[in-house]
Amino acid sequence: MPVITPVADAGRQISDAEFLQFQGLLQRLAGIHLSPAKKALICGRLGKRLKHHGLASYGEYFCLLTGAHEAGELQIAVDLLTTNETYFFREPKHFDFLRERILPLRTPGSPFRVWSAACSSGEEPYSLAMLLAERLGAAPWELVASDLSTRVLEKARSGLYPMERARNIPHNYLKAYCLKGTGQHEGSLLIERSLRARINFLQVNLNEPLPRLGEFDLIFLRNVMIYFEPETKRKVVERLIPALKPGGHLLIGHSETLNGVTEGLRSVSPSIYRKA
Ligand SMILES: C[S@@+](CC[C@H](N)C(=O)[O-])C[C@H]1O[C@@H](n2cnc3c(N)ncnc32)[C@H](O)[C@@H]1O
Repeated sequence: MPVITPVADAGRQISDAEFLQFQGLLQRLAGIHLSPAKKALICGRLGKRLKHHGLASYGEYFCLLTGAHEAGELQIAVDLLTTNETYFFREPKHFDFLRERILPLRTPGSPFRVWSAACSSGEEPYSLAMLLAERLGAAPWELVASDLSTRVLEKARSGLYPMERARNIPHNYLKAYCLKGTGQHEGSLLIERSLRARINFLQVNLNEPLPRLGEFDLIFLRNVMIYFEPETKRKVVERLIPALKPGGHLLIGHSETLNGVTEGLRSVSPSIYRKA
């Protein structure tokens, strides 16, 4: 007799009340707003955690997550619920702007400091690092890269990517800063060790008071505010402005706006702001 396996696990439903619990949790923790249209996203991403723990409902999983000793599971859930899409040299106009308009103005002698503030799996900070290494040569520069998700940070630190991700990396950078994986890493691209060592990867939740990281010449805050409601966005930008040097630049994603949250910032061109 053929064995018919039910697909019920994949299809376990989340009730409206349970959805509201997860919506509130993600809003409180990360500032991320999940619209009701994202119900399927919760089931798609967290369904396997219910299965892993042998739980029958999202309500039970929520209780487990918010229990006293479940910080590890909470991080796993946050990792699963964040959207981490990124690629090398995304929105290339920002890299042109850095090369042509920001770097020529830097103060010689003092380290040029950059923060990639929602760096996902590392493609953004490595793109920045390649450009800075090429343009600044022996001049000092520092690069901090942070994200809320520990899973993507681990990936970022490894500097290992599928080879097809290389298509957006300019050829001269590929030659200078990337290695072609061999053996078990066949089909992969590895960022060269000395470039990897230049980036300080750390976990930072933009929805909380920021750690003291010093002042930056440039902050990339790209494609993360799309997940925030206006009030969260305002607070995040307000937290970041003191971390910019006077005259420093804040770059946001091309599809994002600051919705008038620009006190202390001057718009230079769409998605590019400068601290007064
Ligand atoms: C779509 S990716 C953008 C990556 C990169 N900046 C880019 O433009 O390609 C958004 C990232 O923001 C991170 N994120 C979401 N909420 C965050 C928060 N409250 N604090 C820090 N990072 C957050 C996610 O984990 C995710 O890696």
